[in-house]
Amino acid sequence: MRRLMEITVIAGPPESATADFLAFPVTAEPSLGGPGSTLDGALDGRLGHLVQDGELKGKTGDVTLVHTLGQLGAHRVVAAGVGKREELGADSLRTAAARVAARAGGLRGGTVAWALDDTLPVAVEEQARAIVEGTILGSYDAGRRKTRGERLRAIERLCLIGPAAVVQPARRAGIGATWANRCRDLVDAPANELTPAELAQRAVAIAGEVPHLSAEILGPAEIAEARMGAFLSVTRGSAAEPRLIVLRYDPPDAREGVVLGLVGKAITFDSGGISLKPSGRMDEMKGDMAGGAAVLCGLGAIAELAVPVSALAVVPACENMPSGTATRPGDIVTALDGTTIEVTNTDAEGRMVLADALVWARRNGATHLVDLATLTGAVVVALGDFYAGLLGNDDAWIAEVRAAAEESGDHAWPLPLHQTYRRYIRSPYADRKNSSDLRQAGPIYAASFLKEFAGDGPWAHLDIAGTASLERSRGDYYTGKGATGYGVRLLLALAERAAA
Ligand code: BES
Ligand code: MN
Ligand code: ZN
Repeated sequence: MRRLMEITVIAGPPESATADFLAFPVTAEPSLGGPGSTLDGALDGRLGHLVQDGELKGKTGDVTLVHTLGQLGAHRVVAAGVGKREELGADSLRTAAARVAARAGGLRGGTVAWALDDTLPVAVEEQARAIVEGTILGSYDAGRRKTRGERLRAIERLCLIGPAAVVQPARRAGIGATWANRCRDLVDAPANELTPAELAQRAVAIAGEVPHLSAEILGPAEIAEARMGAFLSVTRGSAAEPRLIVLRYDPPDAREGVVLGLVGKAITFDSGGISLKPSGRMDEMKGDMAGGAAVLCGLGAIAELAVPVSALAVVPACENMPSGTATRPGDIVTALDGTTIEVTNTDAEGRMVLADALVWARRNGATHLVDLATLTGAVVVALGDFYAGLLGNDDAWIAEVRAAAEESGDHAWPLPLHQTYRRYIRSPYADRKNSSDLRQAGPIYAASFLKEFAGDGPWAHLDIAGTASLERSRGDYYTGKGATGYGVRLLLALAERAAA
């Protein structure tokens, strides 16, 4: 069904590669290092002239095409700017690769070869990973429902020119980025298409594709029977049925004593409910299931790569709509753990569905919890579109999640939790309320609420409201307006760390 980009690795030299496009990195000194200088020699110094004349500056994302006129195996050489040497990292390499992919796709697709450069201050394994990710993420097409107009041509084959040591990292990156694009597809899908039941169907399909994955889906009757009153309070106003989506990954060689519990918020549309949101940009709330999508696709990647750790994905999926049957502000409901919640704001629905999902995940064997949720507008104000907010109840586990975040490129930055913030969630009528009227510390307040349901073991929470789906491009070219796939690569890195 899904066409995977073919990824190969050859030893070089770069002049011998046959491809429609042969790309190599240029830093912003500017200088032609490793493959750049070799190719310059093979092209009679034409690249060096471009540098001398100031036409090739090496700025991150710049691409300069030179036709080889039969002098090389490749049809064109692409000098790809990667920015200043001291700022070089996976982020800038992903951007360069995405720009090359866009240029190649805009011209005629076909094959792209990328020469790795062992004179750069980034290991070639890391270069390979970033270039594969940038190429695949940069080829994502958010407009696939358009029926008219020019479309990007898919790149058929990506060939890395480098040592055999990059074969495994490249394969892993290819699988991770492909699942990230699949997550983007779910997040960008409109709510009339991607209902809770449809999301459950997609999860069942994922379980059918990869070994050692199984799906369990709970419908409205089972959710009610299980007494998930917090989750149910959110779905009450909607004509669409809710689903509790559970994927289990049980590899035969799983590490003893660890079961990752990946919990993802999946509000397929968040109108706010009776506490209705303003209409401006409400369409963006079709992406309020990004945490759930990341968890399902993250587990897909983990399973496809056969990471030896058991894991459980728990995704409460429903719509948050106003209607005559909707939960009213002031209603008091009983959560799965038996405690009562006063719903003071029906737009604080994410923490309601997560409360029951966290308890359910613990009861079903999760030892280490991490939840991903587009939870608060306030985290967007605090951290913007690049870092997710990271909170939790266990410093060592938070450090693991943070390390996985930084290593994967799904960046996250810690925010504090302290028992003093618990005063925000006190209610005169119930054990707690779901929102405070203080306009303070929104992400912390939400996380203190979740903490009460996370149980005794380690738990970390990623507030991805700013990073999961972008209002506008952040200029890195491997993401654009719309879904980023945030969390998929992070969860893969986290599972690998947990398995080690
Ligand atoms: N889904 C929203 C948060 C959100 C905002 C996600 C912007 C993506 C972009 C969430 O359900 C919400 O409405 N949160 C409220 C909480 C408040 C009522 C306590 C918010 O942040 O305003
Ligand atoms: Mn809301
Ligand atoms: Zn929401």
